[in-house]
Amino acid sequence: MNSSIDGVNYGPLTKLIGKWIGEKGFDIAPDANGDPDNSPFFDELTFRVAGPAENAEEQQLVSLRYHHVVRKRKNGHIFHDQIGHWIFEPSSGLLMHSLTIPRAVCVLAGGSVETKGDETIFDVKAKTGSETFGIIQSPFMAEKARTTAFHMRLVLKGDEINYEETTSLHIYGKDFEHVDKSRLKRVTYDLD
Ligand code: HEM
Repeated sequence: MNSSIDGVNYGPLTKLIGKWIGEKGFDIAPDANGDPDNSPFFDELTFRVAGPAENAEEQQLVSLRYHHVVRKRKNGHIFHDQIGHWIFEPSSGLLMHSLTIPRAVCVLAGGSVETKGDETIFDVKAKTGSETFGIIQSPFMAEKARTTAFHMRLVLKGDEINYEETTSLHIYGKDFEHVDKSRLKRVTYDLD
C-alpha cells in the first residue's frame, strides 16, 4: 500500500487503515467485589485518515481517527466503545494514542512504533499524574474507580492485528489489572 494519501504521508500508520473484525476477544474486568470477571467478546476497529496537523509552526503530525466497538459474545450487546486518534511524528518517530471512553475517562498515551521482520509493533503508555502522557477522569471515577495507568501493544502483520490493552485500576479498595486482548482480520481498506 502507498503510504501517501491525498498528498499526506501517513508513514507506519498507513498499514492500519481500514475496518477490522475480531471474534475471539477476551476481557478481564472487576466484578462487584473487585474480583476478576471474564467476558469473551466480538470487536470491530476502524482506522480512517484524519489529515496532517502543524503545531506552533514547528511540529508536523499525521493522524488516523480510531473507533473501537466491543460486543459481548453471549448477547451481542455493546459493552465498550472507544474513540480517539493514533498520531505519528515522522521527524522523531513519536507515536501517540488519544482515547476517550464513555465512563468519562480520557487518556493520552505515548510511545513508539517498530518493525521486526514482517511485524509492525505499536506500543503506547500513560500514567496518572503525568502532564504529558497521562489520564484525565471524572471526579467520580477518580475517587471510586480510578484508572492509574494504561498500556496498549498492537502487533500488525499483513491483514491481522493482535492487541493487548492493560488498564490499571484502583477500585473497591484494591488494585486491579483490567486486561483486554483480541485478534482481528482486516475486512476492507475502503471506508466512507
Ligand atoms: C476492549 C476494551 C474494554 C472492554 C471490553 C472493557 C469492559 C469492561 C467491563 C466489562 C467492565 C466491568 C464493569 C461493567 O460490567 O460495566 C469494565 C470496567 C472498567 N473499565 Fe473497561 N473495558 C475496556 C477497556 C477499558 C479502557 C481502555 C479503560 C480506560 C482507559 C477502561 C476503564 C474501565 C474502568 C475505569 C472500569 C471500572 C468501572 C467499574 O467496574 O465500575 N476500560 N470494563
